[in-house]
Amino acid sequence: MPDLALGFDFGTSNSALAVVEPGGDGSPRLLALDPARPGSTLIPTLLYIERDGTRHLGYAAIDAFVRLETGRTILRRQVATTREIDTVFGRELVRIDVDVNQPGRFFQALKSFLADDSYQGTNVFERFYSIEDLVAIFLGEMRRRAQEELGQSIDRATIGRPVHWAENDPAADALARGRMETALRAAGFEEIAFVAEPIAAGLHFARTLDRPRLVLVFDFGGGTLDVTVMRVGGDRREVLSTAGIPLGGNTLDEDIMDARLLKYFGEDLRWGEQGLPMPRQILDTLRHWYTIPLLNDTRMLAFLDSLGRETRQQRQVRALIALVRGNHGWPLFQEIERAKIGLSKVEQESINYFAEAIAIHEPLPRRAFEALIGRRVRQAERCIDGALAAAGVEAGEIDFMLRTGGSSTIPRFQRLLAEKFGAEKLRFQDAFISVATGLALSAAGERADLLTAGADRPA
Ligand SMILES: Nc1ncnc2c1ncn2[C@@H]1O[C@H](COP(=O)(O)OP(=O)(O)OP(=O)(O)O)[C@@H](O)[C@H]1O
Ligand SMILES: [Mg+2]
Repeated sequence: MPDLALGFDFGTSNSALAVVEPGGDGSPRLLALDPARPGSTLIPTLLYIERDGTRHLGYAAIDAFVRLETGRTILRRQVATTREIDTVFGRELVRIDVDVNQPGRFFQALKSFLADDSYQGTNVFERFYSIEDLVAIFLGEMRRRAQEELGQSIDRATIGRPVHWAENDPAADALARGRMETALRAAGFEEIAFVAEPIAAGLHFARTLDRPRLVLVFDFGGGTLDVTVMRVGGDRREVLSTAGIPLGGNTLDEDIMDARLLKYFGEDLRWGEQGLPMPRQILDTLRHWYTIPLLNDTRMLAFLDSLGRETRQQRQVRALIALVRGNHGWPLFQEIERAKIGLSKVEQESINYFAEAIAIHEPLPRRAFEALIGRRVRQAERCIDGALAAAGVEAGEIDFMLRTGGSSTIPRFQRLLAEKFGAEKLRFQDAFISVATGLALSAAGERADLLTAGADRPA
């Protein structure tokens, strides 16, 4: 019996694993991976490492973070440590800021850091973890759980990859792919194949078609938008083109923060005799939940304190200090995401976050959300047009427009697709598992049928 190969969708927000078992009807089976949600075949791509080295994944990572960190007052202390300066002079004594009662470290959207060469890794208490180490911890634990569920050792994986990890940057793409490969090997996989995520979704969809049809797959997830034009159905499995950009649901959450919530943290305040604005670089740091903690150092907090004394908008400064010191960045972004997801169903939502000095009540009508993501809709349209052009196909020739990925549920993007291709051509495939099932099919041999004709094909 050939070894089983895993179809592994390592997503920015969610991961899923599937296999095609020998002797069955050839349909992929999804694995249950998160003991904190026993019925679910999806696991949030999250990792929490406690001070003592204990690791939590998925929902358990959220539980640990909320239990141990949210609202915790950060206690900064300067400690003396040595730092390597160079190989000739050896080490020097430096003083650094340390959060002395930090219980653990939380990692989200690890996949988005793979293409970032300025991010090598991080210290988790006394130990350095490279980005590859962090990803390998997640992949390795997923492999272990899959092996336990299937009752056998698994050394082969077909893993999804975005069409492009970075925009117009082949070096960053190569870096991400290399890091992913290193992490997969460290996790114990010996035989590895990469398949672009939208192609995997297309393979899954192909099984529903009895004759060749022209399909455009629009896979809009948490970190990237990935598109492919394929001719599939019957025995045909042909990729005509692929295209992708690093635009995902996380970008939209950041856009909401940018456009609607910075005012709660001093965007409009004036301070000092000259009526100076809030430094732009501080506001930029608030755009990502994971950069907010960078403001948490003694000098910055002292600056914010003095700013608070020199402005009439003290409430905003107190809110900003609470955001930074109380570790509220991540839970605030969770609330933004909740409201954004709500807007896919209802016309009106509001973002509510009350903690310490933070008091946010921000109504967000769908209309306002659509206005603030207008630029993203145009980027998505350009991406689709690029895929059509590379395939040499007109929008009108597409038989089915398949959307998948969590963000493809957003009504504004559905409208874009309906306007471009006709509402009657829109098909939807389970937003969260179609890539994993397609990867399992590919791992079981479908990949061999892929013929590539188009440009912009990832290496
Ligand atoms: N109903 C919804 N409406 C709008 N957005 C949603 C909805 N459900 C999920 N999302 C968003 O979808 C994203 C997650 O989707 P998904 O799980 O497909 O991404 P992923 O596969 O982890 O990421 P990627 O493929 O980009 O690496 C998140 O940004 C989430 O906020
Ligand atoms: Mg995905």
